[in-house]
Amino acid sequence: MAIDTTTYAVPLARTITDMRAEVATWRASGETVGLVPTMGALHEGHLSLIDVAKANGATKIIVSIFVNPTQFGPGEDFDAYPRTEATDAKKLGARADLIFAPNAAEMYPDGFGTTVTVKGVTNTLEGEARPTHFDGVATIVSKLLLAAQPDCAVFGEKDYQQLLAIRRMVADLTIPVQILGGPILREPDGLAMSSRNVYLTETERKAAGQLNVILKATAEAITEGADIKKATLDAEAKLFALGFDKIDYLTVRDTKTLQPVETLTEEARILVAAKIGQPRLLDNMPVLSNS
Ligand code: PAJ
Repeated sequence: MAIDTTTYAVPLARTITDMRAEVATWRASGETVGLVPTMGALHEGHLSLIDVAKANGATKIIVSIFVNPTQFGPGEDFDAYPRTEATDAKKLGARADLIFAPNAAEMYPDGFGTTVTVKGVTNTLEGEARPTHFDGVATIVSKLLLAAQPDCAVFGEKDYQQLLAIRRMVADLTIPVQILGGPILREPDGLAMSSRNVYLTETERKAAGQLNVILKATAEAITEGADIKKATLDAEAKLFALGFDKIDYLTVRDTKTLQPVETLTEEARILVAAKIGQPRLLDNMPVLSNS
């Protein structure tokens, strides 16, 4: 194969070999390469990560689009996950220099037998709710980093635990790449942008917009001295009253270790995963300390 420059306005690589050849050409002319890994169904949140890479010196941007089967658990939405490659390419427009969109056989060839497991920070929260998820994420992200060998790669704070896990993995395996975090982009009512928001009915979408409002009010109350346990239980009750079906966690954790914080001594983060209708919504934000 070769780089496909006719299907979309953005050049497209389907194979690791083609992507590497393009990166080699860029490197030879002194470019700095930034990688933004995604599963497609792109929204402004994804696109904002491109700007983070550019602000940190990337002169060439690769956006990877791959719905990674190994990070979905049984009964999750792998089959239903939105696949909108042509629209994604259009949204990228001139903001990206290459789309890397491999098929599953390219990333997981016959006989594939390696799994990257990050311990510690993955043992809680999403790791408890989705026990095989982070193995899938760490394995595909390490493959993407090795395939593209970028100078920097950007991940959103929307998936805060994922960002911490990837930082851990890159440090532990001394992968020569700078990992950058990008802030959460939100809809006008504050709902964190997500490819899965399209699953929400109109009524659910309205209630979903309250998730960030309740989270923010809880964070502020805790900063002002409210008891963490009581404040988080109150927030859960509010979500149930709004029609949320299931709350996997709504909790205040240490920013670095994600271990529970019982009294606010240093910067902490409040994190939530809650289901309304079909989608499971994630959000998080800092809980500032008053002292
Ligand atoms: P995906 O859910 O497509 O997200 C791709 C990147 O966009 C992630 O780094 C995610 O944190 C970020 N992102 C999503 N919504 C955002 C928002 N509202 N604001 C800012 N950034 C946002 O996360 C994955 O894919 C996969 O696990 C992946 C890392 C690609 C590995 O398969």
